[in-house]
Amino acid sequence: MYAKRVRKKRLGILASGRGSNAVALIKAAQKQEFPAEVVIVISDNAEAPVLQKAEELGVKAIHLEQGPKRTFLIPEVEAKWVEVLREHEVDYVLLAGFMRLLKKTFLDSFQGRILNIHPALLPSFKGLDAQGQAWEYGVKYSGATVHFVDDSLDGGPIILQEVVQVADDDTAESLAARILQVEHRIYPEAIALLAEGRLQVRGRRVKILKETHER
Ligand code: GAR
Repeated sequence: MYAKRVRKKRLGILASGRGSNAVALIKAAQKQEFPAEVVIVISDNAEAPVLQKAEELGVKAIHLEQGPKRTFLIPEVEAKWVEVLREHEVDYVLLAGFMRLLKKTFLDSFQGRILNIHPALLPSFKGLDAQGQAWEYGVKYSGATVHFVDDSLDGGPIILQEVVQVADDDTAESLAARILQVEHRIYPEAIALLAEGRLQVRGRRVKILKETHER
């Protein structure tokens, strides 16, 4: 019996800064058995370290004009970003520390095919500096969440979550560092499930299937 050869899913990563999640995804996807490959990294920040890190790992990485707004891309700019992703035949868009909200033009073009990682247990601590918010609040547990992106802030259906315990002697920084280690593990895990067709979305509920279903 020959193993069925399936085309690897093509991933585009959007990132604004340091790029440790992008690196974790690229390295996971460079393993032969991983069901997807990273074909492009795009940043809204020409100075973002993620661009060089991705290039060093052999992945095309570009800055695209971010337009006039600080927190989102205007429709004309979104259209350009979508065009570049389409040119690269991207199946799924992965936000990895991408610090702008995506709007209608983008969401409609990749409906149900955009994912994000958030450094807290959603729906707690949405938005910026989730680790700092959690530490300030004094929670005993926080964690990381991989979820689909919709038009709400950090509000799409949840794929995977993992808990991180907050220690008495934690600072916001030490908590963030432990959450980051979890992020680097669960984001590739979620993408493997996605690319294997093992995520079944029903409303807000995402079921992980045992069997692989080619999408
Ligand atoms: C990560 O902790 C990611 O979860 C977070 O930004 C950091 C980016 O780090 N994302 C958000 O807060 C999105 N709301 P990285 O550039 O090293 O991956």
